[in-house]
Amino acid sequence: MCGIIGCVTKDRNIVPVLMEGLRRVEYRGYDSAGIAVVSDDGLAVRRVEGKIDGLAALLEQSPVTGPTGIGHTRWATHGEPSEVNAHPQTDASGRLAVVHNGIVENYRSLRRSLEEDGHVFSSETDTEVLAHLIGSHYEGNLEAAVRAALAKVRGAYGMAVIHADEPGVLVGARNGSPLVLGIGRGTYYVASDVAAIVRHTRDVVYLDDLEVVVATPEGFSATTLEDELVTKDVEKVTWNIDTIEKNGFPHFMLKEIFEQERTVWDAVRGRVIETAGDAFLGGLREHRRSLISSNRIIIIACGTSWHAGLIGEYMFEDLARISAEVEYASEFRYRNPVIGPGDVVIVMSQSGETIDTLAAMNEAQRRGAIVLGVVNVVGSTIARQSDGGVYTHAGLEIGVASTKAFTSQLMVLAAVALTIGRARSVSVTEGREIVRAMQAIPGQIGEILAGNEAIKEIASRYAKHSNFLYLGRGYNFPVALEGALKLKEISYIHAEGYPAAEMKHGPIALIDENMPVVVIAPQDAFYEKILSNMQEVKARGGRIIAVTSQGDDQVKKMADDVIEIPRTMPHLTPILSVVPLQLLAYHIAVERGCHVDQPRNLAKSVTVE
Ligand code: AGP
Repeated sequence: MCGIIGCVTKDRNIVPVLMEGLRRVEYRGYDSAGIAVVSDDGLAVRRVEGKIDGLAALLEQSPVTGPTGIGHTRWATHGEPSEVNAHPQTDASGRLAVVHNGIVENYRSLRRSLEEDGHVFSSETDTEVLAHLIGSHYEGNLEAAVRAALAKVRGAYGMAVIHADEPGVLVGARNGSPLVLGIGRGTYYVASDVAAIVRHTRDVVYLDDLEVVVATPEGFSATTLEDELVTKDVEKVTWNIDTIEKNGFPHFMLKEIFEQERTVWDAVRGRVIETAGDAFLGGLREHRRSLISSNRIIIIACGTSWHAGLIGEYMFEDLARISAEVEYASEFRYRNPVIGPGDVVIVMSQSGETIDTLAAMNEAQRRGAIVLGVVNVVGSTIARQSDGGVYTHAGLEIGVASTKAFTSQLMVLAAVALTIGRARSVSVTEGREIVRAMQAIPGQIGEILAGNEAIKEIASRYAKHSNFLYLGRGYNFPVALEGALKLKEISYIHAEGYPAAEMKHGPIALIDENMPVVVIAPQDAFYEKILSNMQEVKARGGRIIAVTSQGDDQVKKMADDVIEIPRTMPHLTPILSVVPLQLLAYHIAVERGCHVDQPRNLAKSVTVE
C-alpha cells in the first residue's frame, strides 16, 4: 500500500533511480505519483494524478535533477487521488519534503494545532500534516526534527524525508509500515520493499518499528525513536532479478500463473522426503511438539491467504486429525478471542505486512499462543515477529491478484499437515503416497497450463456477463471463493462463491440464462452430490463452466464448457483446480480491457486498516 523510494548519493542525478524504483513498486499503489529532489538549487517537486507513466511525461516537460531524492506511488487513504494529494508533501517553508505509507491516526488534532500556529494546508492528506509537523521542529537538523515530530504522532508510518538545507541527507523512519535500507557504494536507499532497489543493491537492512535511519553518501546510522543506537544486521536479498521483469508475458499476473509449475515445488523443495513419507520444516522444529499435541489450530489471514487457510483447515482435520478454525484477521483482532497458552496460531500472508494480520498475530501472542507464520516475503514484519514458521518461497509476486503465492501456501500447508499427521495418524506408506502425489503436482500444473488457449476461448464467450456464481464442495468450496475473488478483483464482474449445496438456500433464485455458473467438480467424494447441484442449475437454464477430472464423461454431458484437470489426492486438488480459474479470470479481464496487474482501488499489500 503506497510504494516509497528514497536515495542519497554524490555527484550523480538520482532521478532515473527513483523512477525505476517507483515502477518496481507501482503494484503497491497507483492512483498518483511524485518525486522530490534536493540539489544545490533547492527542493524541486513533481507530482501527477495517475500512474508513473504520467510522472515520466511530466519530467520530460519539466525535468529535475539532483543527488538526493524521494519518490512515492500512492494508494489513497486521506483525500481523493489528485495531484494536490499526491506525495511528496512539503512543509510550510517548501524546503522539506516527505513521502509516507501508513496512516497518522491523530492527524486531525495535529492539523488543528498547527493551523492555530498559522500553518496553511493545501491537501487533505495526513502526510502533509506530518511534513508541517517535522518542519515546525526543524532547526537545522533534519534527523532531530523527525524524531521530535514522531514523538507526537500516533499511527503507522514508513516514511522518507529530505530537506533543501541538508542536500546530502536522507532520513527514514518506520512504525507499522515496512521500510528497508539498501546499501550501495557511496549510495544509500530507503524503500517500502526490496523490489524498488534490488537492481542496485542486494545488501539490505530491515528496519524495525520505532526506528529511524539517517543515510548520507558516506554511510548510515540506525537509532530508536529515543535516539539510542541500534546495531542492524545487513542481509542479502537472494531472489532473482528476473522476478521483477515480465519476461515476455503481457502481464505479471500471467507470468506468475505460469511460474506455478516451478513455484509449487520451490515451496516444499528439500522439505518433503519420499522415503520417510514425511515433511521436515526447519522453521517449525522448535514448536513441533506443541503443534503435534495441540487440540486445535487457529489459522488467521485475509483475502486469498484466508482462502488458503480454509483449505488448510480441511487438511489439518483430514490428515492430522486436529480441529482447526479459520479467522478473518480483521475480525479476530477486535474480538475477545478465547485463546491462550497451548493454542497454536498459524498466520498466513503473502506480503507478511498486512496490517490486520499483523495486529491479530500480536493479539494472539499477547494472549500467550504460539504463532507460526506461513509467509512469502522474506524479512517481512510477520516473518520476523512470528515465533516460527515457513517461507513459501514463491518469489516476488507483483500482480495484485495473488496466484502463485496461493498455490505455494497450499503446498506448505499440505507439508505441515503431513508432518503433524505422521506423528499422529498417518502411516509411513500413506505418507509416501502423499509425497509422491506432491511430487507430481508441478507436472500436472504444466498440463493445465498447456490448455491456456482453450481457456482463453471459453473466457471470450463469457466476458460480457455481469454476474458469475462459483460452486464447489469440500476442498473445492474455498477454491470457489478464490475463483470468484480473482474474477471480481481484476474484471470488476460481480462474482460469488458458495458451497454448492448452499445454492438452494438462496442463490438459486439468481440463476437464469444470464448467470454463468462455474462448478468445480472433480471426481472426489462429493462427485455425485455436485452432479445433482449441476442438474439444479441446468433445470433453471443456467450456463455451466465445469472444472472436472480428466476423462470425465458425465460432467461433459451436463456442462456447456469443460476444463479438465489431472487427478490427484483430494487435499491436493485445490492446487490444481484453482489454476484454470486464475486463467479464466485473467482472460476475461483482458477481454474486457481491464488493467490486470493494477486493478482499480486495490493495492498489493494492505498496510492500512
Ligand atoms: C488477493 O488476490 C488479494 N489481492 C488480497 O485478497 C490478498 O490476498 C490479501 O490482501 C491478503 O494479503 P497477504 O496475503 O499479503 O496478507
